[in-house]
Amino acid sequence: MTFDERLKLTTEAFRNKFGHNPALIAQAPGRVDLMGSHTDYNMGYVLTMSIDRNTWILARPRSDHLVQITSLNLPGESTFLLDDIEHDTLTPWSNYVRGVAKAMQEAGHSLRGFDGLVHSTIPFSSGLSSSAAIEMATVVVFKTLSQLGIDSVTMALLGQQAENQFVGVNSGILDQYSSALGEKGCALLLDCRALTSHTMPVSQTIQPVICDTKARRELTGSEYDERRAQCEEGVRILQQFYPDVAALRDVTMAQFKAHEAELPAVVARRCRFIIEENQRVLDLAEVLPSGDYDRLRALTDASYLGARDLYEIGAPAMEAMMQAMLAGPGVIGARQAGAGFGGCMVAFVEASEVDLFAARVSTHYEQATGITPAVYAVSPAPGAGLLTSVRG
Ligand code: GLA
Repeated sequence: MTFDERLKLTTEAFRNKFGHNPALIAQAPGRVDLMGSHTDYNMGYVLTMSIDRNTWILARPRSDHLVQITSLNLPGESTFLLDDIEHDTLTPWSNYVRGVAKAMQEAGHSLRGFDGLVHSTIPFSSGLSSSAAIEMATVVVFKTLSQLGIDSVTMALLGQQAENQFVGVNSGILDQYSSALGEKGCALLLDCRALTSHTMPVSQTIQPVICDTKARRELTGSEYDERRAQCEEGVRILQQFYPDVAALRDVTMAQFKAHEAELPAVVARRCRFIIEENQRVLDLAEVLPSGDYDRLRALTDASYLGARDLYEIGAPAMEAMMQAMLAGPGVIGARQAGAGFGGCMVAFVEASEVDLFAARVSTHYEQATGITPAVYAVSPAPGAGLLTSVRG
C-alpha cells in the first residue's frame, strides 16, 4: 500500500466511523535491535533502529473526557472515560491506549478526550514493538490535543510505565525509546542507564533485513520475567564481592570470571551472555559504519549462539531461520531480534542482493519448517510525531 492509499483508506474509515474528518495523524515506528538482546533491563547498551513499519492514530478532539478508539487491524472498539480507566478484557489492544492515558494523568497532565482510529503496518506479537508504537502514538495524540510539552525521553518512560504497570509486561526501555527517539537514516546506540543515545550511520552497502519466523511468541509469558529475575540474582551475588555493582552492565568479564563458580550454573550462563552481549553492542557500533564484514559476522554469530545456548531464548523455528539466513546470497551476518522465543530475526545483507536473499531464505525456511515466513528489508525511520495536519 502506498502512503497516499493508506491515507485515503484511513481517513475514509475515520469519516465513516465518526462522521467527521480527523484533526491530526500521529505516527510511531516499530524497531529492530541490531545488537543487544535483553541488555536493556540490565542497564546496558543496545544498537537499535526504528523501522519504516509504523502505527498511525487518526484523531479528533472531543469536548468531553471520553476516549473512543477503534482499529483497522484488530476487531473491537473501546470507549472509556479519562476519569475512570479500567482494563478492557474484550478489546485487549485498547489497554495500551488506556495505560498511557492513566500514566499521563498520574504524571499530572490534564488530558482531552478524543475519537481515534488506529492503523498499523507492524506485524503483531513478532518482536518489532507494535505495543510500544501504539503507546508512543497515543502519547503524541494526547500531548498534541492537550497542548503538553513532553520531551521524547519522558514519552518513552510514560509508555514503559503503561506497559509495566497497566498492561503488566515487565519490559525494559528499549522499545519505547526506539519508537520515540528513532532517527531517519540512522541506528541508535542507546545507553539504557543514562537514557541517552548517539546516532550511528549504517554503511550504505549493509541492508538490515527482517526475517519473521512466523512462530509467534507471547511476551507476557513467564520466560521473560524469569530471565530478569536470574540476572537480578546474579547481581545480588556479585554485589557481595563488588559493592559498586548495581546492574550486570557494571560487571567486567574479569570480575565475572573471578566469581563465576559462586553463581548457580543457570545464573552464570545468563550473566555471561549479558556481559558479552553488552560488549558486542559497543563492538558492532564501531563495525557498522566501516563495513568490516568479517567482524560483523563474528559478532552476530556469537550473539546468536549466546542467545541460544546461554540465555536460552531460542526456538526450533529460529534455528531453521538462522540456517536459511546464513545460506542466503549476500548475507553478511544474522542473529535473533526482540525477546527471542520465535518472532523476528535480523540479517545484515549486501544491499545489492536483498531481493535474491529474500526469495532464497523464504524457500529454504519453508522447505525446512512448512511455515511461510516474511522476509523484507527495513530502513531507519523517524521517531514518533505528528504525521500531518488534516483539514476538518
Ligand atoms: C522485549 C522487551 C524489551 C527488551 C527486549 C529484549 O522487546 O520489551 O524491553 O528487553 O525484549 O532485548
